[in-house]
Amino acid sequence: MAKQRSRYVCRECGHESLAWSGQCPGCSEWNTLEEVVVTATTAAAAGRSPRRRAAAAPRSVPLRDVEAPAEERLATGIGELDRVLGGGLVPGSLVLLGGSPGIGKSTITAMALGNLAAAGRTVLYVTGEESAAQVRMRAERLGDSALAVPALAETDLGAVVAAIEAERPAVCVVDSVQTLHSGELSSAPGSVAQVREAANGLMEVGKRNGTALILVGHVTKEGAVAGPRVLEHLVDCVLLFEGERERSYRTLRALKNRFGATSELGVFEMREAGLVEVEDPSARFVGEATAAAGSVVLCAMEGTRPLLVEVQALVAPTDVVPPRRVATGIDRNRLAMILAVLSRHGGVAVGNADVFVNVAGGVRIDEPGADLPVALAIASAARGAAVKEATAAFGEIGLTGRLRAATQAERRLEECAKFGLRQVVAPAGTPSGKLSMLEAETLGRAIRAGLDVDGSEGR
Ligand code: TYD
Ligand code: MG
Repeated sequence: MAKQRSRYVCRECGHESLAWSGQCPGCSEWNTLEEVVVTATTAAAAGRSPRRRAAAAPRSVPLRDVEAPAEERLATGIGELDRVLGGGLVPGSLVLLGGSPGIGKSTITAMALGNLAAAGRTVLYVTGEESAAQVRMRAERLGDSALAVPALAETDLGAVVAAIEAERPAVCVVDSVQTLHSGELSSAPGSVAQVREAANGLMEVGKRNGTALILVGHVTKEGAVAGPRVLEHLVDCVLLFEGERERSYRTLRALKNRFGATSELGVFEMREAGLVEVEDPSARFVGEATAAAGSVVLCAMEGTRPLLVEVQALVAPTDVVPPRRVATGIDRNRLAMILAVLSRHGGVAVGNADVFVNVAGGVRIDEPGADLPVALAIASAARGAAVKEATAAFGEIGLTGRLRAATQAERRLEECAKFGLRQVVAPAGTPSGKLSMLEAETLGRAIRAGLDVDGSEGR
């Protein structure tokens, strides 16, 4: 008997419950639960129908006998994108590309399709957000290969699936998944039910035809992939495109990747004629660094790649209670921890001052090795003393004020030497390379060793 059951899915966190409630039990957000109807056919497909039970049980196969042909990867021709994907797109895979509006999602996907088309692959660009004419205007800026991409302005899921079935492209971009709409569901485009239906339908047709699909999705202001958050478990790969809209640098990283590491970072710059890969971001960021008080060169590891960026801090007296703590490019809670250790163990109290910390270039650094340089930048700003010339820093800070060695110190030191830095402030025990080392066991000593103050030799 065809029976319909309802489930309620949170559009923020994807939590499922059987009853509706005003507040999501998963993430405590209000009014985010949406009804999703589960029809009896879904249950039958899951193996609960009597007919399925009567059939012979399927047999499992030892993994070594499973046929797994070495899949060739589809190179998008954008080196940074290919690297984050783990060596190019896997045929038949499903990639979700998230990012806030205006960051360049349509630009990077249009460029990738242009390159693929130029390399003789069949491609398809489905636009639900912009008209074909608007997509053409963007392609004109990007050049001839982008103009060769076949575009389809369509928001009906059935029509998009039919088009993929008919054209069987090697790679298809759907911009964006939130605009697709299935006539079989009554809910609005962008709702959990619609987004899920769209992703399921596209995945099915993609796998059947060997089409690699890139679904573009918008993210909320908190940085979560909105709506598509419920897709994270379904897709093979989740990429996040970040950066400040008014700045030109953009970073691309994988949050999930079934075919590669999630730690790789791609750096781009938005120019007049599209996105340009920044192959040597260290050179850029170090070149732009200032030698003023409050500025420190941080050597971070982003996946397999060391990256030199400038951290800037400003400490300004204030009457505001509590004083402001503003972090751009690093985690707020990490900043709170660093400030607490600085005041308790580093002799730098900023209790009645506003503190601003900024990673230059709009890059976000999410790595404990950034602790020490951030602390040094704040100490330098608070004391009005610049960090010694041509000096970089890396290292983790413990709650007791002791420094902990950072991972892959050799790689970091090589990068520092390559870009003309002469010395490094690092935790004691860090293997030394070609540079002179200002090693310190504690945060207090690191500050004395790193700042350019007369008689500041570490005790
Ligand atoms: P877009 O790719 O449309 O962003 P999204 O799809 O993520 O919303 O483009 C973002 C911005 O980039 C837009 O404001 C215009 C700018 N831009 C350039 O500076 N140069 C270019 O060549 C292109 C195509 C866009
Ligand atoms: Mg767009």
